[in-house]
Amino acid sequence: MNIANALDLRAKAAAILAENDRGHYTVPTKGLYPFQWNWDSCLTALGLAQIDENRGWLEMETLFAHQWPDGMVPHIVFHEQDDGYFPGPDVWQTGRPTPTSGITQPAVAGFAAKRLHDRARDKKLAETKARALLPLIDRWHQWFFANRDPANEGLVAILHPWESGRDNSIDWDEALERVPTDGIEPYTRRDLEHADAAHRPTKAQYDRYLWLVERFRSLGWDDAKLHDASPFKLVDPGFNAILLRSCEDLGDLAEGLGEGKIAKRNRDFAKRGLLAMERLWSDEHGQYLCHDRTSGELIESLSVGGLLAAFAAIPPSRAKAVAQRLGQLTQEARYLVPSHDPADPRFDGKRYWRGPAWLIVNYMIADGLARAGQSEMAATIRENSLALIEKSGFAEYYDPRTGEPLGGGSFTWTAAMVLDFLREEALG
Ligand code: DGY
Repeated sequence: MNIANALDLRAKAAAILAENDRGHYTVPTKGLYPFQWNWDSCLTALGLAQIDENRGWLEMETLFAHQWPDGMVPHIVFHEQDDGYFPGPDVWQTGRPTPTSGITQPAVAGFAAKRLHDRARDKKLAETKARALLPLIDRWHQWFFANRDPANEGLVAILHPWESGRDNSIDWDEALERVPTDGIEPYTRRDLEHADAAHRPTKAQYDRYLWLVERFRSLGWDDAKLHDASPFKLVDPGFNAILLRSCEDLGDLAEGLGEGKIAKRNRDFAKRGLLAMERLWSDEHGQYLCHDRTSGELIESLSVGGLLAAFAAIPPSRAKAVAQRLGQLTQEARYLVPSHDPADPRFDGKRYWRGPAWLIVNYMIADGLARAGQSEMAATIRENSLALIEKSGFAEYYDPRTGEPLGGGSFTWTAAMVLDFLREEALG
């Protein structure tokens, strides 16, 4: 990309971050998502810090100020009253001083904190901030393995599709069929007032999302009970890779700050988890698959979750195979990375996580591949992503065949990822 175009993109990305900035947190986009979301914020912190390092740290501090006493970090913090979103605090009823949801989201904070720290120009500020966040992120990681890996398998389960961040992925279809819908309270969706219904999850999926929320609520959001009580328990390679990468990064950060106990604990989590990830590998498909903890089976669904696994330190042979699989996908979709294999009849290029490309996923896959020595594919993803933004602007997600922008507009984490991709491009 030439310098003028790069400067133009950078200015547009910075303007979106400013537009969605609420002072101590950012909203993902106006209207559709009017509160603070967990993994949105941690990835957004990387972009914010390029403009103002203190503001980057503040984004994560605000999120962790709402960590639950047991260590869980909720997926939404409802900082303000806003009836434009459903389900709001009255549905979750988690009883927190500032209302939050009762489930979590991909644990990217350990990765983000290390990256903010390593890149910091203000080293003193970075050390103070990282020292304060370190034990909080460590507690979240401990919470995960204590509550979502009760049989000590090395990997954690998600109990709700919203926890994965890939809400309506084809990966969950079979397991969701086991979730009943009887007895759910009547509700009105608000997302369809802000986005095209054809780009969003269906009513059948929402009914099941809400049944799970109401079931967990009836158990008083007691995390010791939720895992075994949930009919939906999925081990997602992408979700686990994010957690394991964060454990590894937190381990390194802790070591550098002289916190040996935290370093050891998190490195052990990462080591054990990476060994267990091997059980999710499919030679036949050349990627990782999800595991359904209820049925005990691997799920035959070629989604981006199985490629996002490359964000963690998977064996080099696996990283190479993931890069090859991405190479195949470039034949099927002009814009990387489709969230589901376009060759699957269930693929839908416009519907949220059933096909569209998402910049955050591109960023994490490219980062992992570059680290594993697959720099050619990493550069392809970065260049392809920037070309997509130049063509289609800063949307929530995109049709990977045409590049059509979909979902919400002026999207915060898309802008943050553009700033990071541009930074890497400038550094060569
Ligand atoms: C939504 O409301 O669509 C979110 O993805 C849930 O976190």
